Amino acid sequence: MGHWSFVALMLGCCLSVVLSDNQSQQSNAIRLPGSQPFSKSTRPPFYDKARRARYIVHKANWTVIATFSTKPELVGRSFPAPASISDGPVGKSSGTPYFYLAAIDSIMHDVAKNPNVTLSFSEAAFSDIAECAVTSTSDPESPLCARLMLFGQLVNVTDPKETSFAKEALFSRHPLMPTWPKDHDFGFKKLIVTDVWILDFYGGGSSVSVDDYYNALP
Ligand SMILES: *[C@@H]1O[C@H](CO)[C@@H](O)[C@H](O)[C@H]1NC(C)=O
Ligand SMILES: *[C@@H]1O[C@H](CO)[C@@H](O)[C@H](O)[C@H]1NC(C)=O
Ligand SMILES: *[C@@H]1O[C@H](CO)[C@@H](O)[C@H](O)[C@H]1NC(C)=O
Repeated sequence: MGHWSFVALMLGCCLSVVLSDNQSQQSNAIRLPGSQPFSKSTRPPFYDKARRARYIVHKANWTVIATFSTKPELVGRSFPAPASISDGPVGKSSGTPYFYLAAIDSIMHDVAKNPNVTLSFSEAAFSDIAECAVTSTSDPESPLCARLMLFGQLVNVTDPKETSFAKEALFSRHPLMPTWPKDHDFGFKKLIVTDVWILDFYGGGSSVSVDDYYNALP
């Protein structure tokens, strides 16, 4: 190999490292709530799908995290485990789902093998949505009782500023969390949101772009 082709090879290698690093930083962007005013927790109309999605995520105290199971008897199967969630203290929504999970949690074992997870929400989890009540005119499966899925990767929160936001987000809404045993190696995790899907009206569900999701005020 000639001297110059070697130099070109080295340059190419470093350039691609820089590029892929930038890419991962972009998708892993930290989006803490800004100073915009947040509307009160009124339920946005069905046609404002990005805002309805933000409303659901902010209101939820728990969700279902579906991993690809690594349990020997269930390898590769969808494993939808409920977990507590917060995207920010009440009235301070970030849109990013944060979690406080133990290292021994099966979610963390699965995520070590495959970080791709899907979060599933239903407005039926809230007690005040009439369209979700089981009556002769409403039902959790009614299209007017919204369901939402967020797709992405579950990762450790590492940035110190984001870690303190995640802690405030979760501990302010889940008073039991600070008492959980230290020797279980609990840590703050977040979903890097790559896709959003919502069904909140007749006619089937639809995707919402991640930018629209983050730009919407809950
Ligand atoms: C995770 O999902 C992405 C698509 O978002 C895919 O490219 C990647 O291969 C998946 N990872 C694994 C380990 O399956
Ligand atoms: C995330 O944190 C856990 C527990 O502290 C650790 O075992 C794991 O290696 C971390 N994952 C990554 C990708 O750094
Ligand atoms: C979520 O938890 C808070 C307590 O932190 C409570 O005030 C609120 O009503 C709960 N929300 C729902 C939808 O259950």
